[in-house]
Amino acid sequence: MIINTICVCGAGTMGSGIAQAAAQSGFYTLVYELNPAVLETSKKNIEKNLQSLVEKGKITVEKKEKTQQLIHFTDDIQTCLADVFIEAIIEKPEIKIALFNQLAELNHSESIFATNTSSLSVSKIASGIMSPQRVIGMHFFNPATIMKLVEVVNTEFTNAQTTETVIELAKQMGKVPVLCKDSPGFIVNRVARPYYIESLRLVEEKTTDFSQADKLLEAIGFKMGPFKLMDLIGNDINYAVSCSVYEQMNNPERLKPSYIQKEKVDSGQLGKKSGEGYYKY
Ligand SMILES: NC(=O)c1ccc[n+]([C@@H]2O[C@H](COP(=O)([O-])OP(=O)(O)OC[C@H]3O[C@@H](n4cnc5c(N)ncnc54)[C@H](O)[C@@H]3O)[C@@H](O)[C@H]2O)c1
Repeated sequence: MIINTICVCGAGTMGSGIAQAAAQSGFYTLVYELNPAVLETSKKNIEKNLQSLVEKGKITVEKKEKTQQLIHFTDDIQTCLADVFIEAIIEKPEIKIALFNQLAELNHSESIFATNTSSLSVSKIASGIMSPQRVIGMHFFNPATIMKLVEVVNTEFTNAQTTETVIELAKQMGKVPVLCKDSPGFIVNRVARPYYIESLRLVEEKTTDFSQADKLLEAIGFKMGPFKLMDLIGNDINYAVSCSVYEQMNNPERLKPSYIQKEKVDSGQLGKKSGEGYYKY
């Protein structure tokens, strides 16, 4: 299938990065977001990132301008016509399902609906949609402009054309697609869960504090300590993923989310995106 237009839904942490990566790879890219202020911030951040790539000599001024020309921002769903949708909205299945159904009504019968969910069942999302054979998981990592891995998650409904198109799209975006089974947290988030939860336990028990835990884990070779990483991901997203994996795995004690995560979300300390999380930004 030939892809002319990609529509990224949600212009937050992931949506902005995915949109920039898509446009830099030459795709006409629409960014759809409910919140106009977020849309504006996304536009500014993408421009800032591209400018920084120019200053580092990684792209030319012409490439920056071409990339910006390829991205269009909108808060009007009626204008969202595309061959592939990549949703990066709130981690709630019913909201993702509602969005895909709205888009399916507006679009042609071959449009593909890819979810960037970190932990929700892609099968559950697909089964709520009128054309489940065109639904797939396309799980990018943060920051999406830099991280190469994309977990591609098929369900029992996904047809071959959808899988082939999404794998090809990921490659054209310079990514490394890896096929994963639709299981809680797929591969990376399943493996990463204890990294966060066990570190939070240490802080709950006052064995250490968050900054010392980060320093120690970075000193033994982890690229980012767990608390810095949670702030980068967004504490709301990380908490939602923790709860979702915990529930889908039948509530194992070792993966029980921490009250500290809930406190961070309740107090609005979402991490980098809100200006404060475990650290101040
Ligand atoms: N943050 C990460 O590190 C990370 C990594 C991989 C995958 N993900 C997944 O990506 C998705 C988005 O995460 P994020 O961190 O970018 O979240 P975010 O909170 O930064 O951004 C989500 C955006 O979606 C918008 N939105 C909500 N409902 C919408 C709707 N119906 N239509 C259009 N826009 C809507 C919100 O206004 C918000 O700006 C989640 O499913 C998450 O699990 C996140």
